[in-house]
Amino acid sequence: MVIFKYVSDLQQYLSQNAERHAGIGFVPTMGALHDGHVSLIKKAKKDNACVVASIFVNPTQFNDPADFEKYPISVEQDVAMLIEAGCDVLFLPSVLEMYPDGTDKMPTYNFDKLEAVLEGAQRPGHFKGVGQVVARLLNIVQPTHLYMGQKDYQQAMIVNRLLQLMGKENDISLIVVPTVREADGLAMSSRNRRLTEPQRTLAATIYQCLVSIQAKQTTDEFSLVQKECMDLLTQKGFEPEYVSLADATDLTLLDAFSANRKMVALIAARLGGVRLIDNMLLN
Ligand code: PAJ
Repeated sequence: MVIFKYVSDLQQYLSQNAERHAGIGFVPTMGALHDGHVSLIKKAKKDNACVVASIFVNPTQFNDPADFEKYPISVEQDVAMLIEAGCDVLFLPSVLEMYPDGTDKMPTYNFDKLEAVLEGAQRPGHFKGVGQVVARLLNIVQPTHLYMGQKDYQQAMIVNRLLQLMGKENDISLIVVPTVREADGLAMSSRNRRLTEPQRTLAATIYQCLVSIQAKQTTDEFSLVQKECMDLLTQKGFEPEYVSLADATDLTLLDAFSANRKMVALIAARLGGVRLIDNMLLN
């Protein structure tokens, strides 16, 4: 695997290797890699001649400065995992390399309804930052395929919209890869590293709630199941932010289960100081 810190070196390498014809698969990350990230790299490797990963803890998408400061960093271990997974190129830029003229004059994208709900509502400015960094990375790497995790369901939809807003929807295929989970169902996340042992055990409650929503969709009212989940999470020591049901195609929030819509259930909850999110497609 080759590692580049500078845009010009990365672009020179990619153009010299002319791998574009056979496909460049791109996996953007913020590092602190786990098997969820590895599954994206492996999928990209299957589909493309060249796999590029990036590690950049993007300051502009953290609405909470404490979350940014505590974001885990483990570059050496990440490099070993990327090599093992078959990644060809790692882009590891500094903030200055990514935003040489600051961010004020960079294009911002309007995601309308998509950024008004769920994570967008709880984390003001978050998706503006995600849009900004992903657009910059796509312009640098110019991949043919882009890999995102279902774990961040709304983010994948935002990026899908970003590709349209950038006029790149015909040049770049977005592939959404299923969520990789721990044995007890907890969705893998870099933030899981910040949980204490007892918190780590409790964290699987989020997954259990999603499973119960899925199981009860044909027998119970959503509002009842939602309340049960909120109560269970609170009782176990979480501060739940939302237990929501949405149309899986456009994230319109729903009050009730609906047999003729593709639906997704989404949960965000804090445990200790750690904010966890997860989701499950229902049908
Ligand atoms: P990060 O949280 O590092 O995630 C990088 C990619 O890995 C995202 O597409 C995310 O959805 C995916 N991912 C995370 N956990 C996963 C899991 N358990 N199973 C499958 N995929 C998983 O998301 C970001 O970084 C950033 O917002 C980024 C897109 C890089 C922009 O800064």
